[in-house]
Amino acid sequence: METQQSVLSPGGSDAEAIATLSWIMFGGATVIFLGLWALAVYAHWGGETVRRHLASREFIFVGGVVFPVVTLTALLIYGLTLTGARIAATEAGALRIEVTGEQWWWRVRYSATVDATEAVTANEIRIPVGRQVEIKLSSADVIHSFWVPNLAGKVDMIPGVVNRIRLRAARTGIYRGQCAEYCGGPHALMAFHVVALEPSQFEEWLARQRQPATAQLTPVQKQGESLFLSTGCNACHAIRGTPATGTIGPDLTHAGGRLSIAAATLPNNAESFSRWIRDNQHIKPNNRMPAFGILANDDLAALGAYLEHLK
Ligand code: CUA
Repeated sequence: METQQSVLSPGGSDAEAIATLSWIMFGGATVIFLGLWALAVYAHWGGETVRRHLASREFIFVGGVVFPVVTLTALLIYGLTLTGARIAATEAGALRIEVTGEQWWWRVRYSATVDATEAVTANEIRIPVGRQVEIKLSSADVIHSFWVPNLAGKVDMIPGVVNRIRLRAARTGIYRGQCAEYCGGPHALMAFHVVALEPSQFEEWLARQRQPATAQLTPVQKQGESLFLSTGCNACHAIRGTPATGTIGPDLTHAGGRLSIAAATLPNNAESFSRWIRDNQHIKPNNRMPAFGILANDDLAALGAYLEHLK
């Protein structure tokens, strides 16, 4: 079940601190707003003496200088203690993931270990519940911003700079994230999912992601694979275990196993893949992939069947 994307329903401790700060600000703003209205009513109905008192130098000084300075300083100190916790060192046992913002999708890397190869995926970050995760954020082109409101604050992805964000999911679930900085064209369709799994399920998933695509193919899926390799898909996309090694677009080695395609724009199924290949410029205008209107319906169906099968 996908959790509703909201700052106010935290799925981990980092987001909880932000939610608390947000509630303090909403609550404080409400109290101050009501207080100002009460003063206005008091001034209106209170008569000449009251108005003279409210207009005095002392009252203006207290209300206009002392009150904001005290309130904003307290808020600043509280905010800094939250930031202080966020910039603390990453724990030794943390999981490290690299995410690169691309126009208009997310490249996700789990680095190689002594006995396993690197795993590359797209638009979906899976993490184990309860364990700290450090995500290295960078950009391949323009400034993007990485934001999963239910799990952590927002951090920009800047070309030539590596920023870090740390988060920890307190319970399993699917959390939606999105790009929070206008990055041109279909910026609004640049979303992703964070899937928090039980640690054993996560390890199983990651081990699978590190493997090349090895599934047995039916004749139709086989036809889809040949089309993938002959119509140019392989120039931009990699499917590890096949001759497709393109790096411009998302790695599709296990594309069928993801929750969505096209950066959380379409549900993941054979029909979506076919639609996307033919109509992607309508679905996500000005995205970097050309629309393949030349392919016959049978060809599109074969490609869809092949890609959906890559789990
Ligand atoms: Cu990427 Cu907005």
